[in-house]
Amino acid sequence: MSVQRSLFDEVMVPTYNPPEIIPVSGKGSRVWDQEGREYIDFAGGIAVNCLGHCHPDVVEALQEQSQKLWHLSNVMTNEPALNLAKSLTEKTFADRVYFANSGAEANEAAFKLVRRYAIEQHGEDKTKIISFTRAFHGRTFFAVTVGGQEAYSAGFGPRPGNIVHCDFNDIEQFKALIDDDTCAVIMEPIQGEGGIIEADPHFAHEVRKLCDQHKALLVFDEVQTGVGRTGSLYAYESLGVEPDVLTTAKALGAGFPIAAMLTKEHIAACFKAGVHGSTYGGNPLACAVGLKVLDIVSDPKLLEQVTVKSERLKEGLKTIGERYDVFSDVRGKGLLIGAELKPEFHGKARELLNHGLQQGVMCLVAGPNILRLTPSLIIPDKDIDEGLTRLDAAVKCMVSV
Ligand SMILES: Cc1ncc(COP(=O)(O)O)c(C=O)c1O
Repeated sequence: MSVQRSLFDEVMVPTYNPPEIIPVSGKGSRVWDQEGREYIDFAGGIAVNCLGHCHPDVVEALQEQSQKLWHLSNVMTNEPALNLAKSLTEKTFADRVYFANSGAEANEAAFKLVRRYAIEQHGEDKTKIISFTRAFHGRTFFAVTVGGQEAYSAGFGPRPGNIVHCDFNDIEQFKALIDDDTCAVIMEPIQGEGGIIEADPHFAHEVRKLCDQHKALLVFDEVQTGVGRTGSLYAYESLGVEPDVLTTAKALGAGFPIAAMLTKEHIAACFKAGVHGSTYGGNPLACAVGLKVLDIVSDPKLLEQVTVKSERLKEGLKTIGERYDVFSDVRGKGLLIGAELKPEFHGKARELLNHGLQQGVMCLVAGPNILRLTPSLIIPDKDIDEGLTRLDAAVKCMVSV
């Protein structure tokens, strides 16, 4: 059955407003729509498709598991979940794993865990959560309240309480907020949705120190930065600051829904049987995919290439920026890249994205002024170059309107 974009407005809850095209297939970093038009994918499913579309090894892992066992729920454990949890603990600071299905759910688990742990260890008053302005942690009610955009939690009635926000990278403000009633601090090593803003390493180290002084847990939301995106398996490694809890999703499934919350044994111990759970969390299909993805992405050679490709893409963006005098900044780490529009083009990021589609390149935005690119970690150089050529044409359209 051939369907069209107009059906979206008839049958979908209008939480989104997608463009007219409907992509139908993808291979590597190229995607084709219903009309057979080709796009270079610089969006990567919003930092999800870390191995491009239909990576043969990932397809094989999914197909193999699909012939064996699809689902049991958590009344039983399963081999892929155990293998993936083992691999995650071997490759990170963590020694315990909880599986969920989305970034927001992994964060929900983390927020409940840090509250539970603090209350059990230190008493009922230790519930304050410190988060950061412009942070994004997903769309559950707890997650939007912890997140740093007030508008996302407005209009839904009373919010979860005792959550405060600090300006990102402002250590003096942070010092004034943290106290012995603080149970946890939640931060993204690089704010993604907030505009590709890196945590200052000095700030992150001070936050870690102050968390220890006040017996507060440090949670890193690595939903966007994790699984190779910034050139290390997790961004905390290159920041040199180890969290107590880490959430990961998006690229862990490379396009198949899976998420995980990682933590230490003594913290995990407060989540006893029945305290938290999920029907689909740890699903064998998702975990078989996750295991294969983690295996491929943790290869040091692949991770090195992320930084090399990052330079190529950033250089190309800078050249376009200079040619049309449009970008005030090109920033980001690895393949989490932002190009900020100059003040005279403020508010035009979405327009640029639409021009990109016209020219055959898929991009993202981070707010009204920032073009965001999160392509596959293994995007071929020729696709980077071709995507840049098409983006150049899109920018030309934007400036000539
Ligand atoms: C840092 C961060 N945390 C959490 C989320 C939410 O993840 P999900 O949409 O899978 O719930 C996102 C999604 O963009 C994110 O960037």
